[in-house]
Amino acid sequence: MKPALLDWLQCPVCGSDLKAEVRGQEGTEIIDGRLACSGCSVSYPILNGIPRFVEDDAYVDNFSFEWNVHRTTQLDSVNGRTDSEDRLRQALGRPLQELNATLVLDVGCGTGRFAEIALRHGATVVGIDLSLAVEAAYTNTGRHPNMHIVQADVFKLPLKREIFDVIYSLGVLHHTPDCRKAFDQLPRHLKPGGRLLITVYMLANRVYIASSNIWRRLTTRLPKRVLYAFCHVAAPLYYIYKVPGLYHLGMAVFPINMDPDWRWRVLDTFDTYSPRYQSYHTHPEVFAWFEDAGLRNIRVLGPAVTVTAEKQR
Ligand SMILES: C[S@@+](CC[C@H](N)C(=O)[O-])C[C@H]1O[C@@H](n2cnc3c(N)ncnc32)[C@H](O)[C@@H]1O
Ligand SMILES: [Zn+2]
Repeated sequence: MKPALLDWLQCPVCGSDLKAEVRGQEGTEIIDGRLACSGCSVSYPILNGIPRFVEDDAYVDNFSFEWNVHRTTQLDSVNGRTDSEDRLRQALGRPLQELNATLVLDVGCGTGRFAEIALRHGATVVGIDLSLAVEAAYTNTGRHPNMHIVQADVFKLPLKREIFDVIYSLGVLHHTPDCRKAFDQLPRHLKPGGRLLITVYMLANRVYIASSNIWRRLTTRLPKRVLYAFCHVAAPLYYIYKVPGLYHLGMAVFPINMDPDWRWRVLDTFDTYSPRYQSYHTHPEVFAWFEDAGLRNIRVLGPAVTVTAEKQR
């Protein structure tokens, strides 16, 4: 953790400033210590360089597992693809160069795949995640001078109000117990004129959703390692589903991710069958969330349900 992060943090209990008590340091990076609230008696540990505002990874232990096993699978800088950059650009609806010199909040940062793109374009990024994906994100991006990683819950954000130029949350809010309520936590942290963008699962192919939901009743109860092994067994179904005429039937019976890269396919199939919470939404529904939050210039962009808007100046 870098001392600069203290400018943006506040106690999630009482809203007071936090003070760092340092036990271990590497250069300016605080590796071990705690953040003590100046207003109430609560303090929050700093472990492995990351301030922790939650006691454990709650209902997202699947993501703790997934993102540490697949720490680099979806990183553009490692796999040579441009999926993360393309998705962030599409969701922003503006050139990525506009992130230069902005303060960005990455809600549900996972391994930091989008954070590394924002950093590359000159942003300062605060990445928060409830799961131990923060460990993976820290290894991937944590030592970048403009990267700040925090383990925290979107429902109890330890962040000051009206400080971020951009807040994005891509593929996250539908994995919380209440997607709408999670969304409602975000606008208050935007500066006037700031931009909010989210992507959530679309209520589209109802056959696919119904089928995966039936399977999920079983798969979300399996031990993670068993399910992960099973995803390796399921991944070769790709070649059967590729046979002309078999795709729709296969996906109706047992949907899998169809990425040509088998590691990506295993990861995203696990990602479908392991999360405790998974909700699907429509464009009009999400548009109304933005309207109700008083955001302006609301734009619906692809893929899935991707919506972006600005906070009134
Ligand atoms: C499908 S992953 C997406 C990660 C990243 N945005 C990406 O696209 O690679 C969903 C992430 O949301 C995080 N998450 C779920 N509930 C959360 C909550 N209440 N607060 C913060 N993060 C949460 C999970 O831990 C997980 O890392
Ligand atoms: Zn406090």
